[in-house]
Amino acid sequence: MNNNSFFVTTPIYYVNDAPHIGHAYTSIACDVIARFNRLNKKKTFFLTGTDEHGLKIEQAAKKKNMETKIFVDEMSIHFKKLTKDLNISNDFFIRTTDEHHKNASQHIWNILKKNNQIYLDKYRGWYSIGDEAYFNDDEIITDEKTKKRLAPSGNEVQWVEEESYFFKLSKWQDKLLDFYKKNPNFIGPDSRKNEVISFVKNGLNDLSISRTTFSWGIEVPDDKKHVMYVWLDALINYLSAIGYPDKKYKKFWPADVHIVGKDIIRFHAIYWPAFLLAAEIEPPKRIFAHGWWTNEGKKISKSLGNIIDPNEIIKEYGLDTLRFFLLREVPFGNDGDFSKKSLQRRINNDLANDLGNLVQRVLTIINKNLDGKLNKIKQIKENDKKLYEYPKEILKKIEINYEKQELHKVIESIWKLISEANKYVDENAPWQLLKDDKERAGDVLNILVLIIAKIAIFLAPIMPNISENILNKIGLSIKKLSMKDISNDNFLNMSYKIKKPEIIFQKIE
Ligand code: MSP
Repeated sequence: MNNNSFFVTTPIYYVNDAPHIGHAYTSIACDVIARFNRLNKKKTFFLTGTDEHGLKIEQAAKKKNMETKIFVDEMSIHFKKLTKDLNISNDFFIRTTDEHHKNASQHIWNILKKNNQIYLDKYRGWYSIGDEAYFNDDEIITDEKTKKRLAPSGNEVQWVEEESYFFKLSKWQDKLLDFYKKNPNFIGPDSRKNEVISFVKNGLNDLSISRTTFSWGIEVPDDKKHVMYVWLDALINYLSAIGYPDKKYKKFWPADVHIVGKDIIRFHAIYWPAFLLAAEIEPPKRIFAHGWWTNEGKKISKSLGNIIDPNEIIKEYGLDTLRFFLLREVPFGNDGDFSKKSLQRRINNDLANDLGNLVQRVLTIINKNLDGKLNKIKQIKENDKKLYEYPKEILKKIEINYEKQELHKVIESIWKLISEANKYVDENAPWQLLKDDKERAGDVLNILVLIIAKIAIFLAPIMPNISENILNKIGLSIKKLSMKDISNDNFLNMSYKIKKPEIIFQKIE
């Protein structure tokens, strides 16, 4: 693997239903991480796609009276469209019904078999179609009212008894614990890490990895009666998408980070490294689990009819506002509540008051009073230094925040910079300086333009359109800039005339 490469993935989305804010959240977070790494000059591969096999999807197609393949073809398009609507910069969109993916999955199956990791037996136990997961007796809850048996997620479970291939997961317990110890950054955030480790310490059962009572899946090699368990098939997407089994997959493997929701950490942090170690493939470097959103305090669910359609929010408030809100409102890793009130508060305070106001007043003064012209900075005074050096100071911190997926801290640092810049405007009162000391006014304003450009560079991964809009007003484009320019003071084009900015963020009453 190339040291300068970076591979980030979203989970692949089930196509049984239309995309909603939960899917948008994971994709936006990964997009921000991918865009930062590209700006930081890493050879980046950003993967997303759709998970199209399994009983849940077969049943969803049946409900619509559609042939399953036609159903998944149609549903997958909605997810592909969402990536466009969210301005997601993915390098590839995988579908698990792709021929290449099926071949790669069968290839791994054969290796596991050759390595004596698979045996045939009978599965007797609980299965939740909603989770596409098996559960032990002690995990099942009985609903007092309906007497229905439920998985911890609240999804109903059914009793299954059928012939099945098993993966010798139990054998991997100690090796996994050892792996977590040797790779302390494998699971983030720490709270999730502890949860996974204690689950593994409690003992692992062998895992059923094939089904015989339906056929919508990848055929098990040499045994046509069986289809592969959908999670084995799904996890392999991370390899098949980058070319596996061809050696070229090593250009990006091991993945730098799989971003997932907290509900699917077990599959990624236990099953996936066990499958890989058993197939003699290096596990990914890190799994990071984010929290879940509720809607105005309530669990989001179809039955409650409170699904949030990202496109409706975009229509009302704008795409970059949504991207910003989702990452600003809640520490990445924690649960969060989506409400229009908090969204509007963020727009008014963070975007209109802080960022919008800074850009607006500085660019307007230059446009109005200096004919839009910038000069080279003549003298950096002692009281300029704090602001002038600030971007360089936070760059290192921001890089580390990105490595740990602390996206909210990235935004916090940028907003501290914005607040320093606003303070500097107030303290130096350039409108007054223009009357008293024109040369000093020019320096103050040039320093501010330089800082605004750097703020826009920092913001580019999070709000790509807003950032580009700001940069364009000062004659720049992100296409010609990178994170390196945070430490560079000479990239402003002095022959450019600052344009009059239009209002970037409208306050909401
Ligand atoms: N197909 C599996 C993943 C396989 S990856 C090899 C799957 N798909 S999913 O469509 O059900 O969920 C995809 C992602 O959306 C998960 O990471 C999940 O956590 C996330 N979310 C779904 N609802 C959510 C919220 N209400 N809030 C935040 N994220 C949520 O699981």
